[in-house]
Amino acid sequence: MLTQEMLFDELKKTPYVQIEFPISRPQFEEAALSFFKFLELPDHLKNHIELKIAPLHRRGDIGLKHRDPKDDAYNDTKDFFHFHPLILETYSSFLKENPIIQDFMAKALPIWEASNTAVKELMALMDQRFPGTSQKIFDTDHVHILVRFLKYDWKACGKYLAKPHFDAGSFTLALAESCPGLRIGKGPEDLKIINHQENHAIFMVSSNFKKTIETDELAPAWHDVIQRDETQIGRGFSRWAIVVFIEAANVEALDKSETHKWRTEEI
Ligand SMILES: [Fe+2]
Repeated sequence: MLTQEMLFDELKKTPYVQIEFPISRPQFEEAALSFFKFLELPDHLKNHIELKIAPLHRRGDIGLKHRDPKDDAYNDTKDFFHFHPLILETYSSFLKENPIIQDFMAKALPIWEASNTAVKELMALMDQRFPGTSQKIFDTDHVHILVRFLKYDWKACGKYLAKPHFDAGSFTLALAESCPGLRIGKGPEDLKIINHQENHAIFMVSSNFKKTIETDELAPAWHDVIQRDETQIGRGFSRWAIVVFIEAANVEALDKSETHKWRTEEI
């Protein structure tokens, strides 16, 4: 059982901690497969779902997004879908007519629910040291917890699948990845490959955490994703990852110059 002391002791040493998570590897793989099938649909279908839960935040968009370095030098090349259960009530008739999308949403929902439960438990621990933390996240009609399904194409990425950055939210849960490659540290000097334990998620402190817990004890997780096998660079292989972004209700994100601050030399 994770206690408040253990959680904070770990997070002071490294900006992440592995927590138990009840979704199995095959279940994540099935969801990723269903996401890949969704991505093969025509544009008008896969772009149909579009919602926003956090009007002030530069994140908080629900639906399919494409990021391209051509549009913004901070971007990596990737496609991702943000899932939130609000989709199910907003688009119920559309989903009934589109079984591939419905199947993807059906596989995303239990992952979101398990994430929501994990966040509730973690925030209850935070409450013991910083009362009111849970309230900042959950006292809203639509909690800002988004499950991101990500697909990267190696061909377009080279050594870095994701260039180093802080996430824009308060916290992040890295749930699963097709193969290891995620590196985390406090900054560029101490990035280390994370070996994801079975049935565990990686809970990270992210750049906006002070909007949720006001403390200088913690630091956010600087991270990137690299190709470890150099012979694979430029091949057609696609990587998938499933990540959860957690943010307090009605807050603004930090600027990209902050969330990508040690990358300015590349821009
Ligand atoms: Fe990230």
